[in-house]
Amino acid sequence: MRKPIIAGNWKMNKTIKEGLEFVESIKGKTDDNVETLICAPFTLLKDLKEATKGTNIKIGAQNMHFENSGAFTGEVAPANLVEIEMDYVIIGHSERREMFNETDESCNKKVLKAIEVGINPILCCGETLEEREANETMKKVESQVSKGLLNVDPKDLEKVVIAYEPIWAIGTGKTATAQQANEVISYIRSVVRNMFGDLADSVRIQYGGSVKPANVAEIMGQSDIDGALVGGASLKADDFLGLLKF
Ligand code: PGA
Repeated sequence: MRKPIIAGNWKMNKTIKEGLEFVESIKGKTDDNVETLICAPFTLLKDLKEATKGTNIKIGAQNMHFENSGAFTGEVAPANLVEIEMDYVIIGHSERREMFNETDESCNKKVLKAIEVGINPILCCGETLEEREANETMKKVESQVSKGLLNVDPKDLEKVVIAYEPIWAIGTGKTATAQQANEVISYIRSVVRNMFGDLADSVRIQYGGSVKPANVAEIMGQSDIDGALVGGASLKADDFLGLLKF
């Protein structure tokens, strides 16, 4: 059985004070059967981790460099995330691919490094509107997933979460229909199966893109969808709790 994973991606939002208020208001209201994760800006992470000790709320970063250390001004090293006990790190979000020049190759290095240091990677993939309209969705996600998971040791595969996020649905209010999302996610699982055989059944694949309390149940009701990666609707505690109760 794959445990559902609902993750908030706060992107570049919230101060430390706001983040701590948020976790205080969801503490004690989360469900042990649903993995609950908040991915916050770097400066909030240590405080959020401390504030959620002893709860089932996990904390993750939104990026990480693949080198251990060195002359990479402005970047954050894997060891920096390890020392504050990060549970997850988002890798290759479309905003980072589009605006910060992340490539399938750098994402692959980050996935491998995250596994090496003991942080679970969430590898993101998804097509643009032009690619969807040109019937290139499957080709795009196949390429992103197969390159992103290159050289992952099969024994580590279950640590990896994949997030399918069609770019046209992110922050736009346009959600892929639950069937559209499930179709692509089933295909992604078949890509993982081609690489890793039946271990593909243990990999959790999330949908992301305008998920909100009103549509989460239908999305989570699909056969191959194991969770959601949520931006906008993860910023308000009440909405986030609504997502957890899908
Ligand atoms: P959204 O963002 O829920 O605001 O569409 C999702 C994401 O980018 O992870």
